[in-house]
Amino acid sequence: MPLVTTKEMFKKAYEGGYAIGAFNVNNMEIIQGITEAAKKVNAPLILQVSAGARKYANHTYLVKLVEAAIEETNLPIALHLDHGDSFELCKSCIDGGFTSVMIDGSHLPYEENIALTKKVVEYAHARGAVVEGELGRLAGVEDDVNVSAEDASYTRPEEVIDFVTRTGVDSLAIAIGTSHGAYKFKPGQKPQLRFDILEEVSKKLPGFPIVLHGASSVIPEYVEMINANGGEMPDAIGIPEEMLRQAAKSAVCKINIDSDLRLAMTASIRKYLNENPSHFDPRQYLKPAREAIMDLVEKKIKNVLGCDGKA
Ligand code: G3H
Ligand code: 13P
Ligand code: ZN
Repeated sequence: MPLVTTKEMFKKAYEGGYAIGAFNVNNMEIIQGITEAAKKVNAPLILQVSAGARKYANHTYLVKLVEAAIEETNLPIALHLDHGDSFELCKSCIDGGFTSVMIDGSHLPYEENIALTKKVVEYAHARGAVVEGELGRLAGVEDDVNVSAEDASYTRPEEVIDFVTRTGVDSLAIAIGTSHGAYKFKPGQKPQLRFDILEEVSKKLPGFPIVLHGASSVIPEYVEMINANGGEMPDAIGIPEEMLRQAAKSAVCKINIDSDLRLAMTASIRKYLNENPSHFDPRQYLKPAREAIMDLVEKKIKNVLGCDGKA
C-alpha cells in the first residue's frame, strides 16, 4: 500500500464519531513503536514531521522509515508536515513525497494567512496532496517559537466559513484552550477547553474535519517516573483524557500528540539507566523505550481516539 492522504480517513472518522491520532516522529524507534501499536489494533495513522524533526533526522531518512513501516504493517498511513511556516517548506515536503501538509499562518494577519494558505492549497491539490490550515493561536512552545498565554487567542467562529471557502483547505486546526508542550495549565488551575467554540465552528462547517493541536494528556505515570529517576518536571499538566474523548466524538478528526511520546520515551530511558548504571549499549534502553511508545499509542487509540479496527 502506498502512503495515503487524510481525505478518506477524515470522512470515515467524521461519520464514525472517532478521531485519527497524528503522532510526531523523528527517529526509527518512535516510528516503529507507533506503527506496531497501530498494527496490533488495526488503526489508520497520521505520522507527522515538524520542521525541527526534519532538520534533525533528514527528509529522506524519515520518508524511507515511514515507507518501511507501511511495508511492515500494510496500514493506511498519511505522512504530514506539522506546522509548516512557509510556502517553500510545504512545497519541498510535497515534492519529497509527503501526502499532507499544514501551513500554519495563524500568527499572520487574517488576510495574509488566507493568501499564504491559498497558495499552498493550489500547489498541493495540483499534486494530489491535502492541506491543513489554522485559525486562532495556541499557547506553548514549538521549536524556537514560544507563544505566551497572553498572545494566544481562541478561534473566532465567525471567520471559519470565509477562511475555508477562500483558501480551499481540507481541514482546519482551531484554538479552544489546548497548548503545546508539557505545561498546559498552571498548578492548581482546572483544565478547561472551549467546547462551545468547537460546537459553533462545527455548526458553521458541517461535515468538515477539525484538528486539535496540543492534545497530549501529559500522563502523570510518565511524569512521576521521570521525577523518580532524577528528572525535574513537577508542574507538568495536560489535557484530561475525558475531554479528548469528547472531542474525538465531535467534528475533531485529527488529534495531535507529541509531548506524551517524548515523556513515555524519556521516562523509560531514565528508569532503565537508573536501574542499570553500568549498561551502555543503546539497544538495551531503546528497546524498552520503543515498547513504552507502543504501549502508549495502543492505549491512546483504544481509550481516547476510538479508531481501533478502522484501518
Ligand atoms: O507542535 C509542535 C510539535 O510538538 C513539534 O515540536 O517543533 O519541537 O519538533 P518540535
Ligand atoms: P502536544 O505538545 O500536546 O503533544 O501537541 C503536539 C502538537 O500539537 C503537534 O503539532
Ligand atoms: Zn501543533
